[in-house]
Amino acid sequence: MTYSQINHPKGWGILKMKEKLKVLNLYAGIGGNRKLWDGDIEVTAIEIRPKIAKQYQKHFPNDKVIVDDAHQYLIKHYKEFDFIWSSPPCPSHSKIRMMASKAEADKDKNRNTYDEIFPDMKLYEEIIFLDHYFKGKWVVENVISYYEPLIKPQKVGKHFFWSNFIINQFRIKSRNHMGNIDELQNKVGFDLDGCDLGHRKDQVLRNCVEPKLGKHIFDCAFRIEQKLLSEVSGNSS
Ligand SMILES: C[S@@+](CC[C@H](N)C(=O)[O-])C[C@H]1O[C@@H](n2cnc3c(N)ncnc32)[C@H](O)[C@@H]1O
Repeated sequence: MTYSQINHPKGWGILKMKEKLKVLNLYAGIGGNRKLWDGDIEVTAIEIRPKIAKQYQKHFPNDKVIVDDAHQYLIKHYKEFDFIWSSPPCPSHSKIRMMASKAEADKDKNRNTYDEIFPDMKLYEEIIFLDHYFKGKWVVENVISYYEPLIKPQKVGKHFFWSNFIINQFRIKSRNHMGNIDELQNKVGFDLDGCDLGHRKDQVLRNCVEPKLGKHIFDCAFRIEQKLLSEVSGNSS
């Protein structure tokens, strides 16, 4: 069964069987969250770094990849989609980065510290915007923040998710964040050997949502209506 049959926001299955579900994948990275999505879908991915976008395109040749600012793209184009996933950059919300920017002793010794930064409120702009304007299903993903989140998320694994559907809990093995490049590649199932990403490979890999979790969430967005469809058609298969 395809997603468009299960729960197309424009109407019930049978009449819409040939219509693909239009998916917007914002802040796409190299596509960890998208890796295992399947079904009758047409994905548009937005990524600001050209070399990372190029890598995404290699992984997903059928997706439409656009090098652009995802935040601006969202407000201009949201009406064109049925499902929107957004993964805004997480450093300004991250516990690890905040702790490292407070490490005064390390600063004196010039060790691995960061400058202080304001938490980037585009995260909440997108959540509020999607919740009030967008008619389809949506999910915004980020790290577990160092502060009490301003809008209550669902916590799954090591992520916060805000969405307009219920995400069931999902057991996922350690993200192995401290692993080396080979281990990280194995974890997300991408081979970046010989690729020029213009960015640290380990960081790009750590940025990926685990593909199984990405699929679980995508499936959760459509599960309830999937049951309803079988009830409506009286078909238990
Ligand atoms: C957390 S990663 C996304 C990971 C992705 N969801 C996955 O599972 O693989 C965030 C990505 O957003 C990109 N990015 C940062 N600012 C952006 C912007 N304003 N517009 C589009 N992409 C942006 C970064 O280059 C990075 O690849």
